[in-house]
Amino acid sequence: MNQAALHRLLAKEELRKPELADQEQLFRRRLQTNASLIQYLFYKLYPENTYSSSFEKLLALIPKLFAQRPEELRIIDLQRLSEGNWYQSEKMLGMQLYVNRFNKNLNGLRKKLPYLKDLGVNFLHLMPITTRPKGPNDGGYAVNSYIQVDKRYGSKKDLMELVSSMHEQDMYIMLDFVVNHTSDEFPWAKKAAAGDEKYQRYYYTYPDRTIPDEFEKTLPEVFPQSSPGNFTFNREMNKWVMTVFNDYQWDLNYTNPEVFMEMLKNLAALANLGVDMVRFDALAFLWKKMGTISQNLPEAHALISLFRLCLQTVAPGVVLLAEAIVAPTDILKYYGEGVTKGNECEVAYNATLMALLWNSVATKKTLLLYKNLRNLPPKPSEGTWINYIRCHDDIGLGFDDKYIYEIGWNASDHRKFLLDYYSQKLGWSPSVGQIFMYNPKTGDGRITGSTASLLGLEKGMKTSDQQLTDEAIDKIIMLHGIILSYGGIPMIYAGDELGTTNDYTYLNEDDKRDDNRWLNRPIHNWEAAAAVTQRGGIQSTIYNRIKHLVSLRKNYSVLADHHLPILYEPNNSHVFVFERRGKSGDGLLIIANFDEMDQVIEGSWINGLGYVQDSKLNDLVSGDQIKMNSGLLNLKPFDLLWLKSY
Ligand code: GLC
Ligand code: GLC
Repeated sequence: MNQAALHRLLAKEELRKPELADQEQLFRRRLQTNASLIQYLFYKLYPENTYSSSFEKLLALIPKLFAQRPEELRIIDLQRLSEGNWYQSEKMLGMQLYVNRFNKNLNGLRKKLPYLKDLGVNFLHLMPITTRPKGPNDGGYAVNSYIQVDKRYGSKKDLMELVSSMHEQDMYIMLDFVVNHTSDEFPWAKKAAAGDEKYQRYYYTYPDRTIPDEFEKTLPEVFPQSSPGNFTFNREMNKWVMTVFNDYQWDLNYTNPEVFMEMLKNLAALANLGVDMVRFDALAFLWKKMGTISQNLPEAHALISLFRLCLQTVAPGVVLLAEAIVAPTDILKYYGEGVTKGNECEVAYNATLMALLWNSVATKKTLLLYKNLRNLPPKPSEGTWINYIRCHDDIGLGFDDKYIYEIGWNASDHRKFLLDYYSQKLGWSPSVGQIFMYNPKTGDGRITGSTASLLGLEKGMKTSDQQLTDEAIDKIIMLHGIILSYGGIPMIYAGDELGTTNDYTYLNEDDKRDDNRWLNRPIHNWEAAAAVTQRGGIQSTIYNRIKHLVSLRKNYSVLADHHLPILYEPNNSHVFVFERRGKSGDGLLIIANFDEMDQVIEGSWINGLGYVQDSKLNDLVSGDQIKMNSGLLNLKPFDLLWLKSY
């Protein structure tokens, strides 16, 4: 039982009528039940003999933060607490979007809520909307403020109006907490640059290269092409500062407890905007230690859990998403382990499934997908995934080499093949993507491009190749069919519902040209969106087929994330099969064919699971009854079946 479940249990009586509950009393109870864990984690990071007065300061801070929590959000907090894990419901459907690229600004977005609701979206991740430097700013991930809305998106009032109108319509909202770094224009960074030593201790600053050189021996590079190395010399300060991402993103120094407490204030202020889920950006990088790669360190986990428990005390309705795009087993650790199990992040990106799906598309095989998924420890029951195909970032091939070797392939050759397949190095590949941040020192590279372009739609349309186009559409639907049913919150990347291809306009913009992740950050195509009610046409077809899958999802409670998917391996290496089962014994069997040819699977085991009656299967996607011939099930190229149990 995690702390959230404990609070729910202890407040059982009061939660019958959340609006009437004694909020102060419940707050104090949460503080009391979280205090010893908070203390344990705090002293783990900041030893008691040096930092006991800092801990007292933290204990005094928490009630102040609660006092600032607006009344209406305190009520929502208690409603959420009583509802339990709302984020595991089959009704959830997320969309990630750039407010300005979607429809100009926050007001523009509010006007488009009906469009989102039509598709079934009830959860929005808005990409950064707070102030940032004028020049390059990593799409807003270099923050000048954690809460002040950048004028180009509107005002705080606009945001509040959007949030309340979303809440009125039972929609949830997620914003980023860029917890690892600030921009070099952030007030602390400016003071540090001007020579204020207090603020220099908020970052990792060094008078010469001695310590940076030591660090560099083991630190990898995130942006080796555009921002090589992990330190930047600041002339004004006459010092080196750690900048793991871009040179204008200064890493916060969490070995200083003041930084933790100041950032906790920022987190609480962000939560007070009415945010339901907070995306902890780049959280794997939070703690640095010489001689290590400074990712996923135990101290980073302790720190995240500390944030978690303090925020939960203040705002128990707000959940956290781990943006840890790291190795499969490392991602799982962000749900918490040992004493912090269930007390770190409730939600994590399923980057493993995402990368493996792209691997299966390129190889047309599911061997590696199964190998990796089967060898992962299960996620804890109170945690959930965000399942996605594409996002604003690159695709990193973060799965283990070990399993590539185990299926008999050479790992570096295989990775090279994947990069080549997606970046137009193989004439026969339908994919029109690009390489992101190739590092010749390590041979590593990542992939950029939109879902549609990576799956062949751009090439198909350009060359008027009907077959390629149709196949691309089928692949788009198949991948969405998987993330919509796998277990967790499916997150559609805005534009993908219309099959939006790469956007090359970033090449004309100085602050974006060096970063080809902008290929897959499109301006929303409202002309295509307006035409979705008319049948026919590529965009409309994609939209309506996805919408159909969404409406199916919302009708099947077995798709709520209460039970892990069960994997089955049919004797066909092109096919992916998993089952979702509910308490009452009903089930859905999801079957996807990654091959461009018809495939056949043997069907007796499907029969045994209760999906066959009179040789017929009940497919929800097509609405058809499918007949098995001689006990064999035929699959069309890129077929997607959602079979319903009898
Ligand atoms: C996350 C964001 C990415 C950004 C990085 C640094 O990975 O998703 O876009 O570049 O953090 O903030
Ligand atoms: C962070 C993310 C990773 C991404 C990188 C920049 O490291 O975790 O997904 O590749 O930022 O895009």
